[in-house]
Amino acid sequence: MANFFAIFFLFLISAFSSVDSTNFSSQNCILTPNWHMFVINGLPNELIITDICDDSSFPKCDHSQISPGEFVSWYFCPIGHWYYGDFTRGSTKKTVQLYSKHIDNFCGHKFLSGTEHCYWLVKPDGFYVAKKNLSISDPNWSYESPWI
Ligand SMILES: *[C@@H]1O[C@H](CO)[C@@H](O)[C@H](O)[C@H]1NC(C)=O
Ligand SMILES: *[C@@H]1O[C@H](CO)[C@@H](O)[C@H](O)[C@H]1NC(C)=O
Ligand SMILES: *[C@@H]1O[C@H](CO)[C@@H](O)[C@H](O)[C@H]1NC(C)=O
Repeated sequence: MANFFAIFFLFLISAFSSVDSTNFSSQNCILTPNWHMFVINGLPNELIITDICDDSSFPKCDHSQISPGEFVSWYFCPIGHWYYGDFTRGSTKKTVQLYSKHIDNFCGHKFLSGTEHCYWLVKPDGFYVAKKNLSISDPNWSYESPWI
């Protein structure tokens, strides 16, 4: 019986720790906007594997797989949070700063409340960002970094 509870408890810890770094619903932020960040798989027919991590001395990461044309998103209050993503596509790996001072300036409107939206698009030649959900073929995505 004790073993059963120990295993159940470990299961609970791992279930919660896997959603530790990102929140999937809107946050109540104090004197800052609520950020809603998206990562869209714009590869024609490849799966992307991501670990999206809260960039702290003990990073907490969320693992997900994004099918072509699909996306993941999360919400956060900006103060005290920076995020990066470890991306894997086949045998290629890349780490991208998903929320940094640069991205805060790029996507942010300097609101004191409300919601800021920011979109990442992963394409065969690299990583793009936009303030709006542009279509995948739109030329106005801003190029941020290559895969390698
Ligand atoms: C997720 O939401 C909870 C409750 O609002 C908050 O305490 C926690 O700091 C949030 N996590 C992140 C990484 O923003
Ligand atoms: C972006 O817009 C397309 C339609 O133009 C929609 O299918 C897709 O779900 C949207 N993506 C996000 C992340 O909102
Ligand atoms: C790209 O952005 C510019 C400036 O905001 C706009 O004039 C143009 O119509 C946009 N192009 C497309 C294809 O949306």
